[in-house]
Amino acid sequence: MPDPLMPDPLPHPMADKDQAALTDAQAAGPTALCPSIDLDHDHLQAQAVFGLELRDPRAQPFVMLRTQILRRLARLKGKVLAVTSTHPQNGKSFAAANIAASLSSIQPVWLVDLDLRRPVLGGRFGLQAEQGVAAHLAGDIPFEAAGYHVNGTNLTIMPAGAPRDDATDLLASARATSFFQTLRDLGPDTVIIVDTPPILESDDLLIAARYVDAVLLVIEEGRTGKRELTEALRLISPTPLLGTLLNKAVRPLSRKSYGYGYGYGYGYHPRPEERQV
Ligand SMILES: Nc1ncnc2c1ncn2[C@@H]1O[C@H](COP(=O)(O)OP(=O)(O)O)[C@@H](O)[C@H]1O
Ligand SMILES: [Mg+2]
Repeated sequence: MPDPLMPDPLPHPMADKDQAALTDAQAAGPTALCPSIDLDHDHLQAQAVFGLELRDPRAQPFVMLRTQILRRLARLKGKVLAVTSTHPQNGKSFAAANIAASLSSIQPVWLVDLDLRRPVLGGRFGLQAEQGVAAHLAGDIPFEAAGYHVNGTNLTIMPAGAPRDDATDLLASARATSFFQTLRDLGPDTVIIVDTPPILESDDLLIAARYVDAVLLVIEEGRTGKRELTEALRLISPTPLLGTLLNKAVRPLSRKSYGYGYGYGYGYHPRPEERQV
């Protein structure tokens, strides 16, 4: 596959029908392998996606987190990070979206929705994406048709598409292996952030963990129990744990990490086993 850093993206299947869109994508920069789209500011705000607007105080925790993530990924010589948690609704997608968005101002980022049973990233970013990663893994669409490059940014979003019951089969397929190889080949600086299914609900996350270099575990204050956390850590192993993110903290962890009248706390802890949760 061609190096996306070269201004010569793969031909998009829509190329004949929509040459203008492809030209825009090519003009948009090195990550524009996929068609380029604009995002709606109000929609992003309503969906709690703040990371593209770095001056928004609600993006600050993610701005602080991104440097630590890059440093730890570099130490692991990794580029694919899964964001996961024990259960639905803990804030995996919230964290993945905001981490990817804030990281994209310093490095090219691909945000991949691998929660094929409960895909939300397309909706969070306001994409009208009936098809995405799942359709690609099913062999229905090529890689480039599963992603959307955000105009004026270094962020490409790969929504999952419509919910799938055959998620486990798709995740375990040979196409999933080549899909991640394609992502890894996108360029030396490219970081891939993967939104995933919950650990304790199905085998899906354990299958997805094969493809990633490290896991960031989102812990929802008051909901993620200590026993569940221990079990989750056991299941993730041997995939390296990059760290944990304490989401929806009731009390501030530090003055720096809480405030803004926003109502969520945040903390980043590289070694969760040392924490009392
Ligand atoms: N810290 C937070 N601040 C504001 N909203 C949040 C926060 N964490 C999660 N949410 C919201 O809670 C809901 C569930 O979060 P989500 O990221 O979809 O969870 P999961 O991916 O773990 O199922 C979403 O509407 C999300 O926007
Ligand atoms: Mg989710």
